Amino acid sequence: MKHYKVAVIAGDGVGPEVLAEGMKVLRRIAELSGTFAVDFIEFPWGCEYYLKHGKMMDEDGMEKLKQFDAIYLGAVGYPGVPDHVSLGDLLLKIRRGFDQYVNLRPIQLLAGAPCPLKDIPREEIDMLVVRENSEGEYANVGARLYQGKPEEVVLQTGVFSRKGTERIIRYAYELARKNKKTLTSISKGNALGYSMVFWDEIFAEISKEYPDVEIHSYLVDAASMFFVKDPKRFQIVVTSNLFGDILTDLGAAIAGGMGLAAGANINPERNYPSMFEPIHGSAPDIAGKGLANPLAAIWSISQMLDFWGQETFGKTILEIIEQILVEKRILTPDLGGQAGTAAVGNEVVRLLEQKIK
Ligand code: NAD
Ligand code: IPM
Ligand code: MN
Repeated sequence: MKHYKVAVIAGDGVGPEVLAEGMKVLRRIAELSGTFAVDFIEFPWGCEYYLKHGKMMDEDGMEKLKQFDAIYLGAVGYPGVPDHVSLGDLLLKIRRGFDQYVNLRPIQLLAGAPCPLKDIPREEIDMLVVRENSEGEYANVGARLYQGKPEEVVLQTGVFSRKGTERIIRYAYELARKNKKTLTSISKGNALGYSMVFWDEIFAEISKEYPDVEIHSYLVDAASMFFVKDPKRFQIVVTSNLFGDILTDLGAAIAGGMGLAAGANINPERNYPSMFEPIHGSAPDIAGKGLANPLAAIWSISQMLDFWGQETFGKTILEIIEQILVEKRILTPDLGGQAGTAAVGNEVVRLLEQKIK
């Protein structure tokens, strides 16, 4: 029997609350499958750990994570520890260190999910954002000069390598070809005359290898407007690290909210583990109350199963999430319900038991 080993970094705030439900779901799927087993190893890293030990993860943390088939992450960042420290030394360190250069974020309006847009049929919000996840605006290269003086200057440089830009764009073309979808590049060449002009050139160069893929190109400001006004224009979207970050929170908002948005940080070559997470943060405003919506964290388990080649189970999870949204009996407050986090997880498990015989 295949054994998958999953490293769990529940992290801060609502992270542990929502991951508990995702683990519950994956554990039950493994039992019901009869064909694979899952071992979870939990790592206590996060802001509390930092306050006790002065570091976000163990010194040999990356070495420890290397041997896993996947990393399951909750959320990182909490008042009391500066965000650039907590995120830089844990979440972003893993994305970069394990070359998880593809961030796959589905923006899909499931039946029953609340959509703030007027009169939009749900089929019209169905895209997959392929976010560059290793460099760009997140390279964190910069300088602070003349600190405290009137002539103080701060530089924050975007780094776009040929290798890094080509590989993400090629990945997106491959996805579009395989799924017979259109591909849209979102950039900003009119203002960012180095990075985004380069991005656009590479997008055009690689298009020659994919004459079968219908392509489009948008400036990020206009794209944001069309995400809201006419989201059916977008199927597969490829974009830079920062634009992808912002566009996917906007995407989450039109597809039911942060409680439903999942993301997979993929190392396609499989040299290192990939990492699966809800895209929301630690939600300090609702943490500790048992009210966080675990469906995003559960959706990211579906992405993990897909990545392992267990797509049938991945699909079952999405069907169950949709059923829960349609039935509207057991929903957390962000979706207009009164149920708690654990009740939603239990309902997913109950429906799994009905579906997988
Ligand atoms: P956030 O995503 O934590 O919260 C934004 C809003 O969405 C809040 O009102 C929150 O209550 C709501 N929300 C988020 N997840 C929810 C859920 N599962 N169910 C119901 N409602 C939910 O964003 P923020 O407040 O800007 O950030 C809080 C902290 O999290 C910061 O330290 C930030 O840096 C960090 N952060 C971490 C990650 C990550 O680890 N992947 C992602 C984003 C933000
Ligand atoms: C996300 C988060 C992170 C990002 C932060 C917490 C560094 O917002 O995963 O979307 O910007 O990538
Ligand atoms: Mn984000």
